[in-house]
Amino acid sequence: MNKLIIPAIALSILMLAACSPKAEGGETPAGGGTAKISYAADIQPIMTKNCISCHSGDRPKEGLDLTSFAMLSKGAHGNPVFVAGKSDESLLYKAITGNGADQMPPGDKMDDADIAKVKAWIDGGAAE
Ligand code: HEC
Repeated sequence: MNKLIIPAIALSILMLAACSPKAEGGETPAGGGTAKISYAADIQPIMTKNCISCHSGDRPKEGLDLTSFAMLSKGAHGNPVFVAGKSDESLLYKAITGNGADQMPPGDKMDDADIAKVKAWIDGGAAE
């Protein structure tokens, strides 16, 4: 008798352990939504790598400084370069795809993954 009960108890303990917390605190939201993209954490490094050699300092090209969210939000000579939620209406996105604006960086597209990240950031609401 005991020979059967002990493995049965061991098995139920294992199953309990396997089913417990896990789901809590996961990084990726369930339901296939994109994880929230933050400008500071996700987008600034892309700008720093590809853009600020020209878009920073005393006289950034086109008046557009890409060294922070605050500066980006000032736009190019005061004209906004992104529309939250609408990458297709955002000059920033048009520029990095070379579609509807001058190609940025000039003559040299960024990695597709970086372009996709910027698109996802804008379309996700362009959070700071
Ligand atoms: C080698 C210098 C250089 C780099 C690097 C560069 N830009 Fe530019 N950017 C310019 C110049 C110059 C202009 C002015 C328009 C022109 O001459 O094409 C400009 C204009 C722009 C404009 C306005 C475009 C328009 O049609 O009005 C945007 C938006 C922009 N840049 C974003 C970026 C982004 C984002 C990056 C990085 C992915 C970047 N730039 C990298 C030089 C640069």
